[in-house]
Formats: sequence, structure tokens, C-alpha cells
Amino acid sequence: MSEKPWDGRFSEPTDRAVEAFTSSVEVDRRLYQYDIDGSIAHCKTLARAGILTEDECGELIGGLEKVREEIADGRMEFSDRLEDIHMHVEDRLAAHVGALCRKLHTARSRNDQIALDERLYLKAETQEIITMLSGFRRALVEFAEVNINVVMPGYTHLQRAQPVLFSHHVMAYYEMFSRDTWRFADALERMDVMPLGSAALAGTTYQLDRQYTAQLLGFSKVSENSMDAVSDRDFMIEFMSACSICMMHLSRLSEELVIWSSAEFDFVELPDAFCTGSSIMPQKKNPDIPELVRGKSGRVFGGLMQLLTLMKSLPLAYNRDMQEDKIPVMDAADTLKACLDVYTRMIPRIRINPDTTGKAAAQGFQNATDMADYLVSRGMSFREAHACVGKAVAYALDCGKELHELDLEELRGFSQTIDEDIYRALSVSEMIERRRVYGGTAGSNVAAAVARAKKRLDGEKKQ
Ligand code: ARG
Repeated sequence: MSEKPWDGRFSEPTDRAVEAFTSSVEVDRRLYQYDIDGSIAHCKTLARAGILTEDECGELIGGLEKVREEIADGRMEFSDRLEDIHMHVEDRLAAHVGALCRKLHTARSRNDQIALDERLYLKAETQEIITMLSGFRRALVEFAEVNINVVMPGYTHLQRAQPVLFSHHVMAYYEMFSRDTWRFADALERMDVMPLGSAALAGTTYQLDRQYTAQLLGFSKVSENSMDAVSDRDFMIEFMSACSICMMHLSRLSEELVIWSSAEFDFVELPDAFCTGSSIMPQKKNPDIPELVRGKSGRVFGGLMQLLTLMKSLPLAYNRDMQEDKIPVMDAADTLKACLDVYTRMIPRIRINPDTTGKAAAQGFQNATDMADYLVSRGMSFREAHACVGKAVAYALDCGKELHELDLEELRGFSQTIDEDIYRALSVSEMIERRRVYGGTAGSNVAAAVARAKKRLDGEKKQ
């Protein structure tokens, strides 16, 4: 047998440096389980089409299982001379079944083989990420639940705006990560297409029962067009896009944890087990986990750009450029999973400082909108009320007081409609409780949102 399965027409051996340059086995060896599953399904399909006898099929499958064990036990020697995982598996198969191994590649090309391996790999990764997201979302919901009544300032432009429940803030992240879950589930549908039978690009001359192959491999559909099946990687780009959006959400949460754990804010205390110190400043406790998660988001966004750039000018059908697709995708999947794992374990251990958040919620004129709403309830138009409260804020600033620290006479100076009950309207608890509109921060709303989320997560667990 010649050294390479494709070197029949070549008159000199491949240059060593070219072998090293073109090899992808360091990366695609991770796909070996999928490659072998695909080959086993292909054997069965060939047997069904009468291309292999049942005995041959059985022998090949037995050999493939032995190769699987060898790789799992670390007994396979990987070498650039054999380019990729497909050639490594076939080479070892020869050691177990001899010349019969040469029949395995009938009606198949490495082009449809890699498209298959990538889809199988990505389906498994996506399912794992969905499960991990479910666990992470549960951690968020439980974090909201144990801190359900803690109040904090809500921000816009990172300036104190209106008080909210801390749990409402946390549940905002639950919503983001629920949409991320939905995005991955949606991407999964488009990955779930079986490409074998497309061969190099035009399809194969053998009448393969492609539905049968799909069924063996757990795909719900077969590809409609052989050229599309071997040459597009949109399902990977979509996966990268879902990873990027999810990392962007994780990065925003990270930024908040970094800010909140600073002495200036002092809203939260991160667990010691999830922080590190400084080699020079003995007093330091640094929020490394959120910082690293924030930093790793850049890597995943970069991978998305890498893949889009890789694909944008490729003529149909397969081009070797596409071998480069696996690096960013595998890195994104590994990175996202690592971030979700560490956050799911850290979130329940974060301690909130309700005194600091509560004090911060009562300062900085965060009740100005509520004072305007109070005046509206007394018959003033909102624009007029806005201007009136603006003047009251300016006056209070001059006196170094908050609105609720002005006495009734001072307040009535801005509008005679103001009564003693204004103080209730300007209290933090009342401001929160009055935001009972669906989706607002009132305690009963947040409790209902937490209950809905828990029910949904229980449902996801049963699936
Ligand atoms: N290692 C290749 C890849 O990852 C497998 C397909 C090779 N096909 C080819 N015609 N050389 O894309």
C-alpha cells in the first residue's frame, strides 16, 4: 500500500515541511469518536446498498471499534505524515482488517466526512452548552431568590437612576441567558443535517439510502444539495455567533461584578476561593474570575470574525482553507463551557452587602421621577411636573439635602398640591412597590418571575 491514499498520481514524496504545514491532525484528532461513528454508519449503509457483504461490514465495524479503543487508551501514534484524523483511522484499520479497509472509503470523500464530523461534534457541544446554561440560569434564579428583597440603585449611564430590587437586576441576566439558550437550540436545528452521500461535491454514483445513515447517526434530516453540504459552514458561524452573544452577556455581568466588588461600590463580596491576591500588595483580593471571563469574550468574538473572513470569498465547493475552521470553533466551545462552569459555581457564593446597596438606593435624587408622578396624580401635566421637580432638585442640592429631607413647607413652595403623603411616595420601598406594571421591579412581580423561571427550568430538566 502506498504511503498516502491519494498519492497514485504523484512522482515524488511529499516534502516533510509540506506534510507539517498541511496537517490538521493536532486539531481534528479530537473528532475521532465522531469520525468512527460516521464510518460505522457508512459501513452499514454500504452493506445495505450491497456494496459490502454483511461479513465485510461486520469485520470493518469490529476493526473500527478496535481503533476507537486504541485512541481512547492513548495507544494511537499521531503523525503529520497522515494529515488528518480520517487518514489515521483508516491507517490503523488496515492493521486490524488488512486490505478490506480499502473498501471503507467507497462512495465517500473526506469532504463529506469532515462536514459530518463537524456537525456531529457541534451538535454534541451545543447540547452540552444548553444543559450548562440551564444550570447557570438556575444558579441565577436561586441567587435572585435568596436576595429577593435587597434594594439597590438602578443605573443608566452608570449614574444612579431609580431604585430597583437586586433580584430584578439578576433576573435581567436570567432573561439574557434564556434567549442565549433559545439561540443555541435554534442553531441546533440547522446543524442537524446529515451530509454523507455528497462525496467530494457532486454526490455519489452509488445508490445510498441516506435516510438510513441519518437515522443511524441521530440526524433528523439529510442535506438537499451535495455542493452545499460539503462547502458551507454557516452552521458553525451561527454557533460562533450564539457563543459570542452569550460571552457578551457574561462579560457585562463580569464588568458589574468587578465594579460592585470595588471599595468604591462595596455592593458584593466575591468568595475567597474564586479570587487571587497580588505578589507585591499583601492587602489585595482581585476579582480575577470576572476579569478573565470578560477578557475571554474577546477571544470568542475574534473567532467569529475569523470564521466569517475564512468563508467570505470561497468559491463552491470545498476549499482547503476550510480546514482552518475547527480552531476557532473548538476554542469558542471550550472557552464558553469553562466560563459557564466557573460562574455556575461562583454565583451562589457571592455575598451581597444589603446595607450599602440600600443606602445607595436612597441617595442621589432617585425619587425625582416619583415626585413628578406624585404631582401628575394631583393634576399636573408630566412635562410641567418634570420642570417643577427639576427646580426642587436644584434647591435641595443648594441646601445639601435630598428631596425627602426637605420639610413640607419647602416642598409646598414648588406646588401647593403637595401634602404629607409625599414622603411615602418618595420612600424607596414605595417607589419599588409602585412599579407593578408587568415586567417592573415590584416585589410581587419579581417573585412571580422567579417562580415562572423555576418552573421553566424544571421543565427543561425533564426533557
Ligand atoms: N482536513 C480536512 C479539513 O479539515 C479534511 C478534508 C480534506 N479534504 C481534502 N480534499 N483535502 O477540512
